[in-house]
Amino acid sequence: MKIQLKNGLLPLKQRSAIERPEGGEQPWPPLATFISSPQPNRYNDVMIQVKNLIKVFGTKVAVDDISFSVEKGEVLGFLGPNGAGKSTTMRMVTGYFRPTSGSISLCGIDMLEKPEEAKFRLGYLPENAPLYSDMTVASFLGFCAEMRGLHGADRTKAIDRVLDMCFLDNVRNQSVDTLSKGYRHRTCFAQSIIHDPDVLILDEPTDGLDPNQKHEVRGMIKRMGVNKAIIFSTHILEEVEAACSRAIIIDRGKVVADGTPESLKKLVPGANSLDEVFRSITKPDTTHKKAA
Ligand SMILES: Nc1ncnc2c1ncn2[C@@H]1O[C@H](COP(=O)(O)OP(=O)(O)OP(=O)(O)O)[C@@H](O)[C@H]1O
Ligand SMILES: [Mg+2]
Repeated sequence: MKIQLKNGLLPLKQRSAIERPEGGEQPWPPLATFISSPQPNRYNDVMIQVKNLIKVFGTKVAVDDISFSVEKGEVLGFLGPNGAGKSTTMRMVTGYFRPTSGSISLCGIDMLEKPEEAKFRLGYLPENAPLYSDMTVASFLGFCAEMRGLHGADRTKAIDRVLDMCFLDNVRNQSVDTLSKGYRHRTCFAQSIIHDPDVLILDEPTDGLDPNQKHEVRGMIKRMGVNKAIIFSTHILEEVEAACSRAIIIDRGKVVADGTPESLKKLVPGANSLDEVFRSITKPDTTHKKAA
């Protein structure tokens, strides 16, 4: 099916046709949308503003009209089943993917109009972060610091700070290609915070870490969240309770819940954990076909 955008938006008729499975007579069952009442504005400083974001790949609507904002001092957990559209949304927020339609602003700077200025305020840990494998950890971080405009003593200070924060000091002179998976991941994390950005987008930052490091990274995210706006995706729901002031659950490209971890737990009667809420309001990837 050919997708035709009208004024940058997908006409509703085509969207519902895409959402419906091939040859299926029934439309997808409507998603129950649980949005808890808006939280009082505790921070008054919107750092990330996403409006009506849509991303279409061929005939696939990966992100379907997502809007949210994150204020300074908030750590937002970004949850959803595999394929829900978390990484795609994050890639758009970081300027890595251009949205099919919608708008993004970081610290009041429009990502589509002034991408370089907006990206300057941002740190990003991608899902499969690339590393220069022939560099040592310290030289890689030095390179990243320079890319972020840090030179001389500022560069040295920034490298030492992140080596210390990410527990990388003992491998500072080790070549990246000889690092274990967890240390590689920590090196990627370190590059995302080398310039002490106002906004941090972390795609599964604790993936592949051992339990001690998971605990450390959660604590670090929580501490950094005091004066930054942070979005991080995870499949570990206890992490949300440990580190997030708020969480959004997305399913098949749409926001289906938004609230504090405590308020989300009250959305589903009888649910005792975020895990139960998650399972009640999202559909595993494998059931999409059956729903047809
Ligand atoms: N570059 C691309 N080209 C085509 N389809 C894509 C592309 N990137 C993502 N998709 C599709 O968009 C949908 C959302 O993918 P995305 O990676 O955002 O999911 P996710 O929520 O991050 O999942 P996971 O939990 O597995 O990381 C998937 O169906 C995926 O196959
Ligand atoms: Mg992902």
